[in-house]
Amino acid sequence: MIRDILIHPDPRLKKPCDPIAEVTAEISKLAADMLETMYEAPGIGLAAPQVGVMKRLIVMDCIKQGTPEPMALLNPEVIWSSEDQSTYEEGCLSIPDQYAEVKRPASVTVRWMDLTGAAQERQFEGLWATCVQHEIDHLNGKLFIDYLGPLKRQMITRKMEKLKREMARG
Ligand code: NI
Repeated sequence: MIRDILIHPDPRLKKPCDPIAEVTAEISKLAADMLETMYEAPGIGLAAPQVGVMKRLIVMDCIKQGTPEPMALLNPEVIWSSEDQSTYEEGCLSIPDQYAEVKRPASVTVRWMDLTGAAQERQFEGLWATCVQHEIDHLNGKLFIDYLGPLKRQMITRKMEKLKREMARG
C-alpha cells in the first residue's frame, strides 16, 4: 500500500521517533508499505516519520541499475564514522525538487535490528553511507536542510510552504 509522504514543514518531521521493541505484523506491513512508497516516488530512502509514523524504522535501496537491494532497518544506530568526509547533492522526498550539497562522514558502521528481529551490523560506503545517515537523521527530527545556512534553509522552506498551499487548493 502506497502511503502519503509528509511535506516539510510539518511538526512530525521535527520530532525524535520512538524505538521499536519487537517486530510485529504491523511493523512488517509498515516496512513493506514504506518500500513500495519509496520505489514508487521514486526515491532511494524513506524514514517512518515521513509517512507520519513516529517509530525508528528506515528503508533504503541505493542500487540504481541492476538487482534491487531493498533494506529495512529497525532502530538503526551509527556506531562508527570515518574521519574522511564526502559531499553529495542530497534531496528528500519530503522536500520535493530541492537539492543541496551536504558533507558527511564518507563511511559509517551501522547497527540495527532486521525484520526477523536479528541484530545486524554493516559498514556503508559511498551513496549508501550518505543515504543511511540522511535517513537516521529523520528519526531524530533532522532534515538535510538543517545542514545549510539559514538563508538557504529559509528559502527552501518558503518554497515548500507555497507548494503545500497549492496542493491544498488542489
Ligand atoms: Ni529525506
